Amino acid sequence: MAHNKKWTQHDIPSQTGKRALITGANSGIGLHTAMELAGKGAQVILACRDEAKALQAMALIRQQHPKASLHFLQLDLGSLASVHAMAEMFLEQYDRLDLLINNAGVMWLPQTKTEDGFEAHMGINHLGHFALTGLLLPALLKQPGSRIITVSSIAHRAGDLNFDDLFFEHRPYGRQKAYGQSKLANLVFARELERRLNAAGSQTLSVAVHPGVSNTNLAMPRHESSSAFLVASLASILSPLIGQSPLKGALPTLYAATATDIRGGDYLGPNGFYEAYGYPAPASSTRRSRNPEIARKLWDISEQLTAVVYPFEKDQAVA
Ligand SMILES: NC(=O)c1ccc[n+]([C@@H]2O[C@H](COP(=O)([O-])OP(=O)(O)OC[C@H]3O[C@@H](n4cnc5c(N)ncnc54)[C@H](OP(=O)(O)O)[C@@H]3O)[C@@H](O)[C@H]2O)c1
Repeated sequence: MAHNKKWTQHDIPSQTGKRALITGANSGIGLHTAMELAGKGAQVILACRDEAKALQAMALIRQQHPKASLHFLQLDLGSLASVHAMAEMFLEQYDRLDLLINNAGVMWLPQTKTEDGFEAHMGINHLGHFALTGLLLPALLKQPGSRIITVSSIAHRAGDLNFDDLFFEHRPYGRQKAYGQSKLANLVFARELERRLNAAGSQTLSVAVHPGVSNTNLAMPRHESSSAFLVASLASILSPLIGQSPLKGALPTLYAATATDIRGGDYLGPNGFYEAYGYPAPASSTRRSRNPEIARKLWDISEQLTAVVYPFEKDQAVA
């Protein structure tokens, strides 16, 4: 990618005729991604767990872009039944998809399980998106040049995928560990998906991004009592001081979704100190995130756990 200039939302080319589905589009980075894409003429589907919040977000977008083409689909990534229901509804209503933006996420929750019994970070941040992407793939494959953008984090660097105990059932739970593991899974998934798409001769691209540190609702204390509340409270106080705006945080996603010099497998983040803030540029990642054995294991276990099997031949999966 060309990153010798300060790319901003003003550089987004017209998105007229494109359809984008964004998970978690009612808040933070997802909301600003939706705002900018809709402002450039894309039809935007806000896939959110809370309809009232989605409607509020749509009203906010329409204040700035009265002609915005916006739609809502209910999606709880912590429920495979909900993921299936949303994907079915999408495929009934629409024929094709240009942009799937796997953005929704949770951070630093106390130990919690999803409806399907998955550890919540792994279940919502990775497995929900793995299932959603697999189910929507037919609509993406129909559209040459379509893109799947998955939002990871600097926190992937501290992440480790423990395949013997992905859900912290036999080791002490740690909020940062659980978040880091899920964000490493996001990055590994995005790259492995690109490898498989490429091997299958598909023109759909898979790209990963991270927003640096951005002042959103992510660190808002949502869980009372316990040390998690203190950590989250501190983070929510510090976040406006050290974090960049949610719009700035959305720039790597917007670049990945709309720039012409994107290649499948790219990983983008802000170009400033520690990649915490700045303008979109290639991002650094850990050796673990590029390990093909880890990628294969994650893929296999994700297919087993979600029962969503991608339409790739088995031999295309061999590195
Ligand atoms: N902000 C940062 O500094 C930062 C840094 C690195 C990575 N990220 C990543 O950026 C992405 C966006 O986060 P953000 O900072 O914009 O946080 P945010 O403002 O809290 O937005 C998160 C979005 O995810 C949605 N969500 C949470 N659980 C969900 C579920 N079970 N099903 C469907 N949607 C769900 C939230 O819905 P509700 O509003 O209903 O809760 C919200 O719309 C996340 O993947 C996060 O890991 C953020």
